[in-house]
Amino acid sequence: MTELRPAKLTGKSALITGAGSGIGEAMARLFAAEGARVAVVDLDRAAAERVAGEIDSGGGDAVALASDVSRAADCQAMVERTVERFGALDILCNNAGVGVAAVCHETSEEDWDLVLGVCLKGVFLGSKFAIPHMLVHGGGVICNTSSAAAEAAVANRAAYCAAKAGVLGLTKSIAIDYASRGIRCNALLPGTVDSPWIGKIIAQQSDPVAQRALMEARQPLGRLGRPEEIARAALYLCSDDASFVTGTGLVVDGGFLAR
Ligand SMILES: NC(=O)c1ccc[n+]([C@@H]2O[C@H](COP(=O)([O-])OP(=O)(O)OC[C@H]3O[C@@H](n4cnc5c(N)ncnc54)[C@H](O)[C@@H]3O)[C@@H](O)[C@H]2O)c1
Repeated sequence: MTELRPAKLTGKSALITGAGSGIGEAMARLFAAEGARVAVVDLDRAAAERVAGEIDSGGGDAVALASDVSRAADCQAMVERTVERFGALDILCNNAGVGVAAVCHETSEEDWDLVLGVCLKGVFLGSKFAIPHMLVHGGGVICNTSSAAAEAAVANRAAYCAAKAGVLGLTKSIAIDYASRGIRCNALLPGTVDSPWIGKIIAQQSDPVAQRALMEARQPLGRLGRPEEIARAALYLCSDDASFVTGTGLVVDGGFLAR
């Protein structure tokens, strides 16, 4: 006999950035399936509309919002529109990210500002504008997508490694500053995940098949992660299952950091 379990996010409203693709898209779909109303935020308006539209067609409740998370005005607007639409903001997933391949001395100031702007300042701005609404409603949950690169540097990704380590620091700061006021804040540290981002990186190599095999061989589990596997970890952190979990980084990397 199949046992029905209650949905984990019934009655909650969630804002997920970078939700037009990859890990954020998987989070949006899973959170909606678990009963949340979801603001699907992305720089790419068409991608956000596609994901939100598919959630709506499947019986969920989603709104698509085009925002650049590195801009304060956009972050303020995305939070305000979510609250207007759903009446509250219970869950914020600061997930949008970009990467640039370069070692430190070859990283341009422009690329540094781009990567830090999206990956780190975007987490700050999303949180800055969401927290006041969470405080008014008695609390909330923030889940920031960091990376295994915060713990073990990835070669040729100076700005990205710095940004993702910064996300861990900000996560802990938010966790301790708001713990007494009902807000939990955690980070996810995914290993290599087979998202469109990684697909593009693989496709750009001279031998994409060999490159994929190499990346898979680097993982103790012998394969890349799937966006849905990261989304399930986000669901745990954002649900009451993680009611005593705050200020931590949850590694979801197929064993990569254990080596
Ligand atoms: N894929 C991996 O192997 C991996 C590993 C560790 C961490 N991460 C992190 O996971 C997150 C999602 O990555 P993904 O692999 O799903 O990538 P992805 O490229 O598939 O999705 C990222 C989304 O973010 C959006 N985005 C980019 N800049 C934005 C901005 N300024 N404002 C709003 N949206 C913006 C993009 O349009 C895209 O839809 C990122 O933070 C990334 O650093 C990914």
